[in-house]
Amino acid sequence: MNPIHGLLTLAYMPEVASDQAEASDPLMHFITGLSAFFFVLIIAVMVWFAFKYRRREPGQEATSQASHSNLLEVAWSLPPLIIVMVIFFVGLRGFVTMANPSANIIRVDVTAKKWTWGFSYPGYKLENHPELLLPKGVPVEVVIRSDDVLHSLFIPAFRTKKDAVPGQYNRVYFTPTRSGTFPIFCAEYCGTSHSTMLSRVIVYDTKEEWLKAVDDAARLPFKELPDELFEQWLAIGSAEQFDAFKEKVVALGGDWPDRVGKMVPPAVRGEKLSTQHGCKTCHSSDGSRLTGPTWKDLYQLERTFDNGSKAAADENYLRESILYPNRKIVATYGKGQMPQFQGVLNEREVDAIIAYIRTLKEE
Ligand code: CUA
Repeated sequence: MNPIHGLLTLAYMPEVASDQAEASDPLMHFITGLSAFFFVLIIAVMVWFAFKYRRREPGQEATSQASHSNLLEVAWSLPPLIIVMVIFFVGLRGFVTMANPSANIIRVDVTAKKWTWGFSYPGYKLENHPELLLPKGVPVEVVIRSDDVLHSLFIPAFRTKKDAVPGQYNRVYFTPTRSGTFPIFCAEYCGTSHSTMLSRVIVYDTKEEWLKAVDDAARLPFKELPDELFEQWLAIGSAEQFDAFKEKVVALGGDWPDRVGKMVPPAVRGEKLSTQHGCKTCHSSDGSRLTGPTWKDLYQLERTFDNGSKAAADENYLRESILYPNRKIVATYGKGQMPQFQGVLNEREVDAIIAYIRTLKEE
């Protein structure tokens, strides 16, 4: 960012801490400057005209002097068109980077509920942490959902705002460019404590520092327990492994089963739910074809439907297919084969099953 933009940002914008902020601030300054310029120009011309064309003698009738002027019409059409197109394309470029993943991304799942934020780090066994922890210079994919009503994740220093919509997964991409601590707000009125639905993002200088912070946070409930138990927790990749872990925790006695034994990773919960609800009788996890498509490598796979349309099997598609299976039928599979789970599974359970399906994708 050049020094002039830096100074302007200092004057009326929050600090700059992400690639999005660096990309969008110059455009913001341009639009603000443009507005100020035309405001002054229009007011000045208006005052001048009011004076110049004032009524000079009592009883003077107003007469029209307006006639057609090609020059004038081109002058007020063409330059604004060019300016607006510049704004559009610079804005579009920012939107595209914000809406598209890049390589080596860190994923964070955000759950909004009245009136807290929960940040989960898939693959790091840190669930529902109250703060967003990120390393500097590494692209982040943030996937946002809501447990109840509309919320909006707003990080002013990143110039990032994304709604948490019930029944929908939204995602946004950015790269933090400065270490430090920055506030997070809820920017969608969500009831009594909307204004206290605050959190913060902590950006670490290096990925190592970040890994340590995530590890420390994940280790917290295990503080007084043997390291070996925490290592076992980190290695959990299936319901079976979780049950073995839980057995050890139960053997510890005291309130450990309550404190640690109930921390079920979402994917494990999803695996158990998919057994309970019979999903596995029709959806294999090893790639073989049963009544329904296999779940192996299904996540983000492009699907072709019986009407010829296509879509990636992202969270929104998987959720729809669980709750309303007949809306989209993958080509070569039969309609009406799967029972509808709307009213059977709640949003949290659907989310857990999706988390399980995600773990069945080979990286
Ligand atoms: Cu959550 Cu406002």
